[in-house]
Amino acid sequence: MREGQTAVIHRADYRPPAFWIDSVELCFDLDPQKTRVLNRMRLRRNPSMPAEALRLHGEELNLARVLVNGQGASFKLEDSHLVLENLPEGHEPFDLEVFTTCAPAKNTKLMGLYVSNDSFFTQCEAEGFRRITYFLDRPDVMATYSVLIRADKAKYPVLLSNGNLVEQGELDAGRHYARWVDPHRKPSYLFALVAGSLVAREQRITTRGGKDHLLQVYVRPGDLDKTEHAMNSLMASIAWDEARFGLPLDLERFMIVATSDFNMGAMENKGLNIFNTKYVLASQATATDVDYANIESVVGHEYFHNWTGNRVTCRDWFQLSLKEGLTVFRDQEFSQDLAGEPSARAVRRIEDVRVLRTAQFPEDAGPMAHPVRPDQYLEINNFYTVTIYEKGAELVRMMQTLVGREGFARGMKLYFERHDGQAVTCDDFAQAIADANPDSPLARLLPQFKRWYSQAGTPRLSARSRWDAASGTYSLTLSQSCAPTPGQPVKEPFVIPVQLGLLDASGAALSNGLHVLTQESETLTMSGLSSEPVPSILRGFSAPVCLDYPYTDAQLLLLLAHDTDPFNRWEAAQRLALHRALQAVRDSGHVELDAPFIEAMRGVLRHPQLDAAFKELVLTLPSETYIAEQLEVVDPQRIHAVREAMRQQLATALRHDWEWAYEAHHDTGAYRPDPRSTGRRALAGLALTHLCLAARLSGDPVWPGKTLQRFKDAANMTDRFNALSALVTSGHPLAAQALDRFHGQFKDDALVLDKWFALQAGAPDRGGNILPLVKQLMQHPDFNIRNPNRARSLVFSYCSANPGAFHRTDAAGYVFWSDRVIELDAINPQVAARLARALDRWRRLVEPCRSAAREAIARVAAKPDLSNDVREVVTRALA
Ligand code: PHE
Ligand code: ZN
Repeated sequence: MREGQTAVIHRADYRPPAFWIDSVELCFDLDPQKTRVLNRMRLRRNPSMPAEALRLHGEELNLARVLVNGQGASFKLEDSHLVLENLPEGHEPFDLEVFTTCAPAKNTKLMGLYVSNDSFFTQCEAEGFRRITYFLDRPDVMATYSVLIRADKAKYPVLLSNGNLVEQGELDAGRHYARWVDPHRKPSYLFALVAGSLVAREQRITTRGGKDHLLQVYVRPGDLDKTEHAMNSLMASIAWDEARFGLPLDLERFMIVATSDFNMGAMENKGLNIFNTKYVLASQATATDVDYANIESVVGHEYFHNWTGNRVTCRDWFQLSLKEGLTVFRDQEFSQDLAGEPSARAVRRIEDVRVLRTAQFPEDAGPMAHPVRPDQYLEINNFYTVTIYEKGAELVRMMQTLVGREGFARGMKLYFERHDGQAVTCDDFAQAIADANPDSPLARLLPQFKRWYSQAGTPRLSARSRWDAASGTYSLTLSQSCAPTPGQPVKEPFVIPVQLGLLDASGAALSNGLHVLTQESETLTMSGLSSEPVPSILRGFSAPVCLDYPYTDAQLLLLLAHDTDPFNRWEAAQRLALHRALQAVRDSGHVELDAPFIEAMRGVLRHPQLDAAFKELVLTLPSETYIAEQLEVVDPQRIHAVREAMRQQLATALRHDWEWAYEAHHDTGAYRPDPRSTGRRALAGLALTHLCLAARLSGDPVWPGKTLQRFKDAANMTDRFNALSALVTSGHPLAAQALDRFHGQFKDDALVLDKWFALQAGAPDRGGNILPLVKQLMQHPDFNIRNPNRARSLVFSYCSANPGAFHRTDAAGYVFWSDRVIELDAINPQVAARLARALDRWRRLVEPCRSAAREAIARVAAKPDLSNDVREVVTRALA
């Protein structure tokens, strides 16, 4: 192994720590070039472990001093560890003092203590605390923290850490200090410190129990007017967790701080959440409806972690989904509950499932496939995945389905009664939910249900029906299988909750119920029917599986028109479109949409009762990625061409309907990001795109002109951006001036510029024009690859979100990709490794893409000194 390289870590090797750290006193002298950190810990040997040396983690630290009980002590530095062998024997606590320095200004990885816009921030999850000081940097070591921060007062007027502010004051030479004490024990990954020139929106609240709390949202001085929505979302989150799960806010003060340099979305540090600005800042002039919805759910997510993650945390990082799957489930439920009406809830559910199917299903079928509770990793940062998060949330959702909503709330209560203050496992969670519901199918099937945690891969659920007209008997055989994934050649059957309805030939509901499939194959029979029913299988997407049933068009049209389950109604339309797309892809790319399909789409678009938001989802074709997932051999350019041709035909055939849809929905009055007006704006935006597409064929100048006017006059970013996007997507010549104007108008707003970059890099390819444009935009003065949001907006939008443009037969897209992965790896391995995942599914690519992609991955893999992060991704891709 080379220096800095580590070995694969296995879940089975878990051992409790040999020492506990009960309390930590940290003293920071902040300086961008050289920050001094004095760390005084109180430790004791873990009585249940044999005596051994203390091995503290540390990375990129300069060690100045080590004292044990105030005395100089002997120590060794061994590959990223500080090792102390001669510690006091016995089980008495002792003091260990470690003095180190680090260089925050040089920290481009954005892990540990770093500088962004002249302020200090920390990011400790998963293993960033060891870049601040030597420590037992693992989640099962929980300590209380007292933090003294000293810094220049003019440059860093605000000094924050977890917990409560207990003292602050002046020091010599223009410096000042603040002392924070966090009363709650926590693992080191939840530590946070912020120092800088920041301002806060403040809100005092009294919660149900009569306690007063101070809520603060800290941002850079010019951004205060963009914090109202985040604050409202925070208040809604607090109220929701109390109402739905009886979980109160346990802190006097709860702070959110925004930073524009952040690897992920946000971080749930105890009492001091640190957020990517993208998930805090919103004003109607700069943020879209989607941004507003994301802020609501991310603020909720981080807040909900306070119980699911912080009060009860993970024993080790293999249990990551314990907190992430559960907390995503909670934020999804929160967003659904806030949406209110059943139809608005269904829209949220469809959006969540779309994410699962376009991102998680491919992951589960590719080289990085891993169980929700993985068995091994090289770099834990690579396991913050859609599998851990989104599939993990689906497992929790299935548990709720199996025990009922109230039963689930009981299970949560028991989970906290048993485990508050502990670091536990996914098993502990499932056990608590089952034990609180002893008569439920979950309790009965728990060992089998837990295969969802241990087996990777998306199960395939096949359904086959038989109708015996003579006896009026209908039978449905449900069978399950699951393809091998890396390291798991054979899978045992899963517990699959199948919500199942039957409709009669006129579309009337015949039955609805939950069938829990546990065998490889089971047959359900219903008799006394007068005609063959149509099955509505997996209502609400009751399990994260791929459903295979040979639906006819007539059945799908019936479901689209009549199913009482909105999810399956949407799904029926997706299947109608998917069948046609797949047919066309197999038929050398030729598409001609048939009248029944077009009429069905028209029927939805013009439907007098359906919500605009739902219509928008139905009329959006399945994504290129989702279409690709259904194929053995993937030709991304052909898929792109087919989908574009289908859009074009829908645009032309429904032109008058799109005109009507635009006129009927474009005026949403004073801006409010509520479900109803959000849905109307979304449908109006989709209409504009189709009207611009139709105009491209007909040469009609009216709608592009109107779209440009709409772009100029729009009163909010959603309408403005939708108009801009319609011009860009349709490739209209007016797009150029609109893009220029947009840049000029928003050049000082980083988050809006991200949209500007992303829109161009994600636009439909026309004759290979996108890659040269992306390369040109990399030279733009506003581009900066060191800023993760900006890198994502340009490089990721091209490599990971624009398959038709990225998979070029001349391999130039892959060469560009490998250059960027290598470039980013030297700056920020976490971001580089995410980009590296863009070629996960290379094996299914059609030639010559397949060979070219393999070559590009091999080129990255051959680079010496790769980070663990990128090395793990490319090695698995080539394995
Ligand atoms: N724990 C964070 C969340 O999901 C995500 C995160 C992981 C942020 C690692 C930063 C680093 O809420
Ligand atoms: Zn989370």
